Amino acid sequence: MNLYKRNLLTLLDYTEEEILYLLDLSAKLKDEKKNGIKHDVLKGKNIVLLFEKDSTRTRCAFEVAAADLGMHSTYLGPTGSQMGKKESIKDTARVLGRMYDGIEYRGFKQETVECLAEYSNVPVWNGLTEKYHPTQILADLLTIKEHYGYLKGLKMCYLGDARYNMGNSLMIGAAKVGMNFVACAPKELWPASDLVDKSIEAAKLSGGSVTLEENVEIACKDADIIVTDVWVSMGEPDDVWAERIKLLTPYQVNSKVMGYAKDTAIFMHCLPSFHNLETKVGMEVYEKFGLNGLEVTEEVFESNKSKVFDEAENRLHTIKACMYASLVNE
Ligand code: CP
Ligand code: NVA
Repeated sequence: MNLYKRNLLTLLDYTEEEILYLLDLSAKLKDEKKNGIKHDVLKGKNIVLLFEKDSTRTRCAFEVAAADLGMHSTYLGPTGSQMGKKESIKDTARVLGRMYDGIEYRGFKQETVECLAEYSNVPVWNGLTEKYHPTQILADLLTIKEHYGYLKGLKMCYLGDARYNMGNSLMIGAAKVGMNFVACAPKELWPASDLVDKSIEAAKLSGGSVTLEENVEIACKDADIIVTDVWVSMGEPDDVWAERIKLLTPYQVNSKVMGYAKDTAIFMHCLPSFHNLETKVGMEVYEKFGLNGLEVTEEVFESNKSKVFDEAENRLHTIKACMYASLVNE
């Protein structure tokens, strides 16, 4: 397996074998880190982290992973660079490609990360766009593999906004590795049909399946993994909250929903999550709509079925594996 110089823009570009290879590499690097075995094999290399949107996990994972690999990283936030304002993405890509060995991008448009990849001549990793969040899916798959010991044949049910980055990317990732994926959402929030078709094609190759379902009980029946995401994503206008709450309240992950799944089922969420009133946005939504907990209840989030912090930790190990695979020529 050789992923040297490869971009990670969407898991659509990766085969099942390549994804499994990245998961194995992540597990190896995780094990090494836990045992104090250094792997600073990329000493002297530099990466740049472009963030047009906020982040805790993705930014920290890239920075810590880069440091563990011996690399230096530069963070460029939404303000402070010329990108997009006085300088085009194409020109920015060509400048950064002359200075850095790799580029991470989190922002609005998938076209932007694709443009960076086309013009920079160095590996580009997608740290989230409106369409895809591939590094998150690798962390999710690693977490599932650690928990169950395998991936093929497991049933994953995603409840919520199924037409945005997490819904899209979980569908692709699950389909690629032979899982049975169900997107459970009102029709208005189903993934785009061309992406569903591509995922069904991938599932045919891997022995998995992809289904869209409006009914929560049918969708979650005998599921091994129940997963959700925020109802309003970064970059969406505030005025979508009212409609989203109306559409998605029946799709909240609560104890009743977990009860439809297998007794052994786990709960997953990429985070951040609105599960109580301890956030500014959670409080605002409570004052306006009277909801204490949105996409998941406090009870499920804090239950022993919840694997959300394992997922968060695995962002580090999987992002490290992506950079290692793209930058180490073995
Ligand atoms: N899950 C995730 O991408 O989290 P951040 O927004 O904190 O990076
Ligand atoms: N769908 C969410 C994911 C956050 C990691 C968003 O785009 O805000």
